[in-house]
Amino acid sequence: MVNHTDTSVVTIERFIIEQERLIPHATGELSGIMYDLALASKMIANKVRLAGLVDILGEEGSDNVQGEAQQKLDVIANTIIVKALDHGGRLCAMASEEEAEIIPIPPQFRRGKYLLLFDPLDGSSNIDVNVPVGTIFSVLEKVTDGEDGTLEDMLQKGAAQVAAGYVIYGASTMLVYTTGQGVHGFTLDPSIGEFLLSHPNMRIPEHGRYLSVNESYEQLWSDDVRALIRRYRGLDGKREAMNVRYVGSLVADFHRNLLGGGIFAYPANAKSPNGKLRLLYECNPLAFIVEAAGGAATNGRGRILDVQPTELHQRSPYFVGSRADVAIATEMLAT
Ligand code: AHG
Ligand code: MN
Ligand code: MN
Repeated sequence: MVNHTDTSVVTIERFIIEQERLIPHATGELSGIMYDLALASKMIANKVRLAGLVDILGEEGSDNVQGEAQQKLDVIANTIIVKALDHGGRLCAMASEEEAEIIPIPPQFRRGKYLLLFDPLDGSSNIDVNVPVGTIFSVLEKVTDGEDGTLEDMLQKGAAQVAAGYVIYGASTMLVYTTGQGVHGFTLDPSIGEFLLSHPNMRIPEHGRYLSVNESYEQLWSDDVRALIRRYRGLDGKREAMNVRYVGSLVADFHRNLLGGGIFAYPANAKSPNGKLRLLYECNPLAFIVEAAGGAATNGRGRILDVQPTELHQRSPYFVGSRADVAIATEMLAT
């Protein structure tokens, strides 16, 4: 006898269709982008899983626009996403952490009304030591005339996103995304190659256990940032100490805090006056997700989704996670 109270088996494809039915004017284009991203994630997961066995560990021997040594998997993941999404007819341009300029849709393919911005492999310095890495993506709708997406289309505030998500290649491969109607997590069952709904309607606790920050920069922080981190650590006696957990992969730190509550902080420091994380394809998509899950994200002065971008690869100080914990950052830094 089937126990109908159990969660039935819901593949991401079926979930996307059900979500689409909730939006009256949906054309299915956004659904198509989500399908293609799920496919690309499975292909990247295969490469990440095998990284130790085939010669794709280590550095590509080139630098990206950020001046960072590209890992071979950075470049492979970037190519997988571009090739999986450039011909579906739903996008009019893409932008990647790994490419200096926006990525046009090849002339032979139809253009759509959406733009995809992504970090193909986040935390890539961790690949060789088998620490979880991820992919982060953000979807915007074109605002300019003409068929092709432009830089102006990319430089929209994070609040304009129509979808955002990430994949974490960890003990299991999970895809977490939102189109604004709740945050939903899917776990890849490698035996059937399907992402199955495992975390419906994810909510971040109002305040949390974890503090994720790289304290090796303490000497480079401003006094107010130092005071803030001391507050989180309970060293000023104003609150109980938080558990410090820092993996060095934003996606892995963010995902743990989404589940257990807490805050991830990458403040500005004397060497990086705008912090390290990139606004358009790291800070904004995760901020869109955390707000849809009941959390918050700030650059220390205000809501990060309200920041007007001026450059494709611009960086931003970043505090993201439980609402009550982020509020402390805004309170102590916004002066
Ligand atoms: P990426 O690998 O895409 O460049 O991102 C790395 C980022 C982020 O994942 C992580 O939180 C941060 O770099 C760690 O930086 P530090 O080593 O300076 O703490
Ligand atoms: Mn990254
Ligand atoms: Mn990256």
